[in-house]
Amino acid sequence: MNPFARQVLHWFDQHGRHDLPWQGRGAYVTWISEIMLQQTQVSTVIPYFERFIRRFPDIQTLADASVDEVLAHWAGLGYYARGRNLHRTAGQLAGQDLPRTLAELEALPGIGRSTAGAILAMGHGMYGVILDGNVKRVLARHSAEPEWPGSTSAQKRLWTLAQDLTPLSRTGDYAQAMMDLGATLCTRSNPACAKCPIKPTCAAHQQGFQNLIPHPKPKKTKPKKTRWWLVWQDPKQRVYVQKRPGEGLWGGLYCLPEADTLSDLSERASALTGLRTEQLKFTELAPIEHSFSHYDLLARPLLLTAETSQVRDDDSQWVWPDSQIALPAPIVKLLRRLIEAPAPDLFGETE
Ligand code: ADE
Repeated sequence: MNPFARQVLHWFDQHGRHDLPWQGRGAYVTWISEIMLQQTQVSTVIPYFERFIRRFPDIQTLADASVDEVLAHWAGLGYYARGRNLHRTAGQLAGQDLPRTLAELEALPGIGRSTAGAILAMGHGMYGVILDGNVKRVLARHSAEPEWPGSTSAQKRLWTLAQDLTPLSRTGDYAQAMMDLGATLCTRSNPACAKCPIKPTCAAHQQGFQNLIPHPKPKKTKPKKTRWWLVWQDPKQRVYVQKRPGEGLWGGLYCLPEADTLSDLSERASALTGLRTEQLKFTELAPIEHSFSHYDLLARPLLLTAETSQVRDDDSQWVWPDSQIALPAPIVKLLRRLIEAPAPDLFGETE
C-alpha cells in the first residue's frame, strides 16, 4: 500500500467516524445515504436516513412504493430530483442489487462518478475511487492544485491523483477516511494542519498556502458595452438632459441623449437640434467607464455646441453642469469634468 493511503488509514482507525448509521450495511444503504449526503450535512441527514430505511429497507420495497410516498419521506431534505431519481432507479433495477461496475452504476439516474465509486468501495467492498467535494479539497491542497478544482483540467488532475492514491485493500475504509479528513480536519476555512496525518507531504502546508487553496471559481468577465453620449451645450454652457422612463436602467433620472452607434447618435442630434447631420461638429471628450452588475459600460461622450431654440418638452431640461437635478453618477462625473476643464467657446468662432 502507498504511504499516503497507509497514513490516512492509520489516522482513520483512531480518529475517523465509525458509528455512522449507513456504514457496513451494503450497496443499497450506501446508495441511499450517499444520495442524501450529496448536498446535505451528516447531522441533517441522519434522522431522514433512518426513517427512510425503516420504511424502504430494500430496493424492491422502494420500487413498489408510490413516488409520492418516497417524496413524503424526502420532504425537508431539499433537491427533490434526488428522491425522484432514487424511486426511478429502484424501478429500473427490478429487484436486483445495485450493479458492480462503474459504467453500469454511472448509467443510473442521479449517480455520478464519485457516488458510483462510493457504492463500489463502501457498498460492495470492491475497488472504487471517490472524489466528492471534501476529498477534492484535501487533494487540491495536498498537490497545491493551481486552478479552481471545478475546472476541466483540475478535475482531470484530481481524478488521476485520486486513482493513484486509492489502495487496493481497505478501499471502503479509505474512501470513508478521506471524507472524514475533509469534513473534520481539512475544512474549508482554518484547516487543522497540526492534527493532519498527511501534513508532512502536503504541498499547500509546506508553502503555507492551505488557506488559499482550493482556488475560488474565476469570476466571469463581464461583457463591455459602448454607448455614445451627446453632450449638447448651449451658448450659456448649459447641458441638455432628458428624463428616463420610470422603469429600467436609471429610471426617472435625467440623462444625456445616447445611442449604440455613432451614426444613430448623429441622427438623434440632428432631430433634436434641427440641424442637418453634416452641419454637426462633435468634439470627443474623455470616455467614462462605469461598471454595472451585468456589464461594463464605456460611454464615449461627444460635445456639440449648438443653439437651443425649439427644444422644449416636459421631460427635457437645460441644466448647469453643477446642477442638483437627479443625474446618474457617471453623468455627474462627466459634467464635473466640464466645469474643471470647460469646453472651448465655439460660439464666438466664425468660419
Ligand atoms: N458525505 C458523503 N458521503 C459521506 C459519508 N459516507 N460519510 C460522511 N459524510 C459523507
